[in-house]
Order: sequence, then C-alpha cells, then structure tokens
Amino acid sequence: MRKKVTVIGAGNVGATTAHRLAERGYADIVLLDIVKGMPQGKALDLFEASPVVGVDAKITGTNSYGPTRNSDVVVITSGIARRPGMSRDDLLATNMSIVKDVTAQAVKASPKAVVIVVSNPLDAMCHVAFEAAKLPAKRVIGMAGILDTARYRSFIAEELNVSVRDVNAYVLGGHGDTMVPLASYTTVAGIPIQELLPKKRLDEIIDRTRKGGAEIVGLLKTGSAFYAPSAAVVEMVDAIVLDQKRILPCAALLTGQFGIKNLYVGVPVKLGAGGVEQVMEIKLTPDERSALRSSARSVKGLVTDMARINKAKAAQASKAASAAKRAAKRTAQKTTAKKTARKSAAKK
Ligand code: LAC
Repeated sequence: MRKKVTVIGAGNVGATTAHRLAERGYADIVLLDIVKGMPQGKALDLFEASPVVGVDAKITGTNSYGPTRNSDVVVITSGIARRPGMSRDDLLATNMSIVKDVTAQAVKASPKAVVIVVSNPLDAMCHVAFEAAKLPAKRVIGMAGILDTARYRSFIAEELNVSVRDVNAYVLGGHGDTMVPLASYTTVAGIPIQELLPKKRLDEIIDRTRKGGAEIVGLLKTGSAFYAPSAAVVEMVDAIVLDQKRILPCAALLTGQFGIKNLYVGVPVKLGAGGVEQVMEIKLTPDERSALRSSARSVKGLVTDMARINKAKAAQASKAASAAKRAAKRTAQKTTAKKTARKSAAKK
C-alpha cells in the first residue's frame, strides 16, 4: 500500500513541503488547514502539476481530520510566523495552544504516525506536541538542526567556492540564538574546516548561521523562511518513509545523553521507519559541550514559561467558572423571590 503523509498548516512552509513531497511520488499527501478552500485549492493545483512532473501521488486538501486517517507521517507547521523584530520565542503563547490542539486531533486519526514538528519556537513546540500526542518520544521529532546546518553549509561552500555537497557539518542545540555549530565536526570532503578557513572568518559564518532565520525575516518582512525549512522537513520524511537510517541533526527528547534530561534539544540521531532509532552521542570538546548545555537551559526556560502560561490560563478559567456559578445562583435566587412574591400576591 502507498504511504501517506499529512501536512498540517497550508501556509508557505506547509504548502512548499507538500509540493516537494508530491514531486517525490512515494506517498499520498494530505494538506490540512482551517482556512476554507485554501488547502483544497493548493492540493488541486499540485495534483494538476502531476502529469507534467510524472508522479502518481494522490493529493488531498481538507479542513477536517477524516482524510488524514492512518498517515505514516504527520508534519505540523501550524501557527503564526515571525515578523521583523520578533524572536521565535515571541510566538510561544499563541502557537502552544494551536500546536496542542492540532497534534491531539492528528494523532487521534493516525495513532501509528511519526510526528515531525516544525512550528516555532521549535524546541518548546516539540514538548507541547509530545505531551499532546502521548506517543513514544522517538515518534515525536523536531525539524531545526538540518535547516540550521544547511545554512551553515551553504555559507561555508560559498566562502570556499566549493560544492555545498562536500561540506559536512552539524549544528546542534536549540533552534535559536544559542544554537551550537560544531567546528570540530565541520569538514570539506573530509578536510577539517580549521585548515581551510581562519578562525575569525569561521566565527563570522557561525554568527550569520545563528541569525539565519532572522536574516530572511528581515528581507521578506511579511513572514519567515520556507524553501530551506521545507527542504529540511522532506529530508526527514525521506529518512522515515524510506527507512533510510540517516544520521541527521534533529530535535529529540534526551534522557541523559550529553548530560541533558527530559528536554528536546537538537542532536544527531539515526532516523528511520521507527522515528528516532538512536541518539548519536558524539564526542564534543569541553566548549561545545558547555555551549550545548547552555542552549538546553534556554529551552528549559521556555518550558518553564509554558508551565506558567498554562497555570495562569487555568486560574483564569476557574475564576471565570466561579463568576458564572455566582451569577447563576443570583439569577436562581431572584427567580425564587419573584415566584414567592407572585404566590403571596395571589393569596391576597
Ligand atoms: C527559520 C524559521 C523557520 O529558522 O525558524 O527560518
């Protein structure tokens, strides 16, 4: 039977992901969004391209979860994107409730799926999706490391005037300003980067990589990147659907690896049909190890912020419920008083 991949959110990242996946031809694609007509229109447009592209994928656009049933992979791109001047963390309060809701509904329809989280702030949204999905952690994975690494590789290839394919590297840690590009694992066709680039220039490239998302937001002004993010998502979907056992940097729930516990952080993982089949605990220099831990601390900060937001929301909801209860009681008392008054008037 053909594989099925659902993409939730038909904005730029979701639609471009669906486009790239449709052209792979190995799976049927379902594109879901709450906006009426939009996923249907984009799916139909993609389907009408298929005779020219030469693929037989079925592509469905929908506003409901029925057509997503029994997907092998669910990609979550829902939520608002950054605008100039915003950090990914500014999206926290809005996107946490969206991601919670869509993950719960998507996993109810596809309990065997591997879930790939793309919404920002990425690492925090992985925690939200993991809690809402109630799936084993190896089947809830975040996309960020491949994107950050792709930016880093692109800049190095451009600087050295070599093929992007020959630049190998890892960018680990959270998907934010604290991300950790690993110079010790950066090579060009096996040659250590330190032999090819002076430290000062490499540091400038690392800095540009850290701000890579913001650079695009600043240029686009109306949203964030989507070509490179969707390419990164599709590399993960390939690894899962085709059981490739790729070693890729992804956000995974750590259980003590690198000295980090119960946090989603970008690390190298083996990605196959089962999701994260292994976290590759590579050796880091003491500086890299401490940078990874400090990046994990900033993810922890967001997790704490979300707990605070949830607590405040719960307190507000219970306050509103008590107020409603008091109002209902007052109405009931007034009605009883009126009835009593009417009865005593009738007796007279
Ligand atoms: C970026 C957004 C998608 O890094 O997080 O471009």
